[in-house]
Amino acid sequence: MSGRGFSAYFYLFFTCIICCYEAMPAKLFEEAVNDRPVIGVLTQIVSDDVMKPFGRTYIPDSYVNYIESGGSRVMPIRLTLSTAEYKSIFKKINGLFFIGGAADLKTSDFARVAKIFYELALTANDAGDFFPIWGTCMGMQLLTVLVAGENLLTQTTAENVALPLNLTTEAHSSRMFQGFPKELIKALTEEPLTGNFHNFGLTVKTFQESEKLSSFFSLLSTNIAENGAHFVSTIEGKRYPFYGVQWHPEVNRFQWDRKLNFPHSSHAVQLSSLLAEFFINEGRRSLHHFDSPEEEDSSLIYKFTPVYTANFTAYEEVYFF
Ligand SMILES: *[C@@H]1O[C@H](CO)[C@@H](O)[C@H](O)[C@H]1NC(C)=O
Ligand SMILES: *[C@@H]1O[C@H](CO)[C@@H](O)[C@H](O)[C@H]1NC(C)=O
Repeated sequence: MSGRGFSAYFYLFFTCIICCYEAMPAKLFEEAVNDRPVIGVLTQIVSDDVMKPFGRTYIPDSYVNYIESGGSRVMPIRLTLSTAEYKSIFKKINGLFFIGGAADLKTSDFARVAKIFYELALTANDAGDFFPIWGTCMGMQLLTVLVAGENLLTQTTAENVALPLNLTTEAHSSRMFQGFPKELIKALTEEPLTGNFHNFGLTVKTFQESEKLSSFFSLLSTNIAENGAHFVSTIEGKRYPFYGVQWHPEVNRFQWDRKLNFPHSSHAVQLSSLLAEFFINEGRRSLHHFDSPEEEDSSLIYKFTPVYTANFTAYEEVYFF
């Protein structure tokens, strides 16, 4: 820190001490805050034939908008780089987001790259270098494969259905739902606010029987699949800032296909907003940064132009890589 920066810091520090000493003595400067976070998003492998002409990997705009809506920027991460390059990227980003899709969770490039970041994140968090990870739908399934070291997923189809969450008692003391107004918690358990689009998932029984999973994650909510199976719908790491949802918070605000059951009520929108803000607030606790503003600018998604896809996919727009 330069001398001038330091004295400015000092000045603010004392001003603050004078102003807020009574209000918040314990928390003051306890944690550094990064107000320019960048969340890395692994590109997803194109599996849908209608999308193949545009590229081999993609990120739907709904996830990008969702992350941006929480006050972050997005860095797309390709699946074709070397381990050394991923290690270097890890030191620059403030969190990682595993999106949904359809890829093999053990053998695909998506799984290979995810595992590299997952291991870096475990080591970093263990060393006090806070680094959050979020997984949505297949992204959550991937997190469970990484933690369990094996694929424990079975058929738990809930396809194109919006559901309320069956919250566990742990949900009420969770970090994820901590900032939620009481009214929204009630709505979450009574109204169909969570869009489900999956065939596979983790049953509650499998979760509870897996020592690795149940010691790593708190189970925050469950739901019932078409075949009657109770499946895990929301999890959060006990010791690590890792979060998973089997449902899709981003569709509530950023996908509008009329054939699909995307929840758009005001409660559904509020749910999506608060979770985006929650995760980005986790990202603010990471002080990783790019080496230069130029490097940062050239790494962000703003450089890419999404393709209009609303007339042939469930996404409004898609970034292809
Ligand atoms: C909610 O979860 C409990 C177990 O935590 C289960 O006994 C109950 O059947 C579930 N209800 C629904 C509607 O999913
Ligand atoms: C979708 O719309 C775009 C833009 O209007 C058009 O160029 C494209 O051919 C359409 N694709 C399909 C499959 O209808």
